[in-house]
This record gives sequence, structure tokens and C-alpha cells, in this order.
Amino acid sequence: MAVILTVAQQKGGAGKTTLVAQLAAAFAAGRRVAVLDIDPQRSLARWHARRQQALDAAAAGITFAEAAGWRLAGEIDRLKAGHDIVLIDSPPHAETEARLAVRAADLVLVPVQPSPLDLWATQPTLDLARAEKRAARLVLNRMPARGRLADLARDEIARGTDPALAATLGNRTAFAAAMAEGLGVTEAEPRSLAAEEVRALAEEIRQLAGNRL
Ligand SMILES: Nc1ncnc2c1ncn2[C@@H]1O[C@H](COP(=O)(O)OP(=O)(O)O)[C@@H](O)[C@H]1O
Ligand SMILES: [Mg+2]
Repeated sequence: MAVILTVAQQKGGAGKTTLVAQLAAAFAAGRRVAVLDIDPQRSLARWHARRQQALDAAAAGITFAEAAGWRLAGEIDRLKAGHDIVLIDSPPHAETEARLAVRAADLVLVPVQPSPLDLWATQPTLDLARAEKRAARLVLNRMPARGRLADLARDEIARGTDPALAATLGNRTAFAAAMAEGLGVTEAEPRSLAAEEVRALAEEIRQLAGNRL
């Protein structure tokens, strides 16, 4: 049975779709990966469509599905059976679908930019994960390597109850550039810092999943 990772965050623009696509591409080197888009904006769907054009179907190597409403739970079960990992991109509000996606998750990832306002805005998502008794981890996105903002973000997180992953993503145009081609940075620019960051994130998640991934 697949490990289910739900990427959730009520704030739009935090990096949900970026995180799902980059992790999916990284895990696709060696694992059977499915991505499920439940955001009506369908940006992950666009990325995957571009991927199918850029690579042949076999090389694309990532199953794509989208679902809404009553079909969602069944779709998650279907994907779970044939894959090692299912990554779910959720819509930017905590309505029924986001709640179902959090409920199904082995781990909820909450991307957040290192600013106090953005960190405070994660609370409803973290509360949702807690209400559903799911483990949640913040993922610092667009993180400066050092400096006051990075320190403040780490202090703020240390005061809360939900830890952040040690691996972070910097503010790098490489992420968007790879996605424009239907790729992840680990595929488009495997020697870049961006790719190193994504591999470190994937490895940390793999360790959290124990021997399941
Ligand atoms: N680490 C990053 N570095 C640079 N740009 C980023 C980064 N993360 C996200 N972005 C950009 O920010 C915008 C919002 O990201 P997106 O993944 O679409 O967020 P969400 O899905 O949460 O709305 C996109 O233009 C994306 O390319
Ligand atoms: Mg999105």
C-alpha cells in the first residue's frame, strides 16, 4: 500500500503545487508515483499534461488523477493499491475535500514562507490535521540560507507544536523553470542547488515513512 502525502495549506501561493510536482518527480526515480489534483485551479493537471508531451508516456512515469466530491475517497483507495507513494495537491481552503485528503494522509506537509504572517496563517491547516489525528510537518519554502528572517521563522516554529522538516527549499527560479517543461528540478537540472534541496526533502520524508518507502 502506498504512503499518502497530502500537501495542504489554506494560503494560496505558499508552494503546494510546486512541492507536489518536485517531490513527485524526485520519487519517480525508483518509486511508483501517483499524483492526485483536487484543486479546481488544476495547475498540477497542467504540469502533468506538459510532462506527457515532453516525455513519452513510459518515461513520464507518474500516474495522474483528479477527483472531487464523493469520488475522492474511492480515487485515493484506487491509487493507493498500485503505487508506492501518492501525493495529493489540495485546494486552498479547508472544506470537505481538503479534509478528506488530510484524513487519508500518512503525513501532511504544509509549505510556508518564512514570514510571521504566513506562519500564523498555517494554524487552520495544522488544526485540521490535529482534528484528524494526522502527523503534520511544516516545509519552509523560499527560505533564505541565513539571516534574521530565517532565524525568526525557526524561533516561531520552535514555539509551536508542529515541527518543520529540516530540509527547506530556497527561493529559486529553477523550480518554476523545470515545471514549465513538465519536469522537476531533479530531472531538469540534477546538479543544481534546487535539485539538492528537493532530494534532501525526499530523503527526509522517506525516513519519516520508515521502511514503507
Ligand atoms: N521555492 C520557490 N522559489 C521560487 N518560486 C517559487 C517557490 N515556490 C513556489 N514558487 C512560485 O510561487 C508561485 C506559487 O507557488 P504554487 O506552488 O503555485 O503555490 P500554491 O499551489 O500553494 O498556490 C508560483 O509562481 C511558483 O512558481
Ligand atoms: Mg496550487
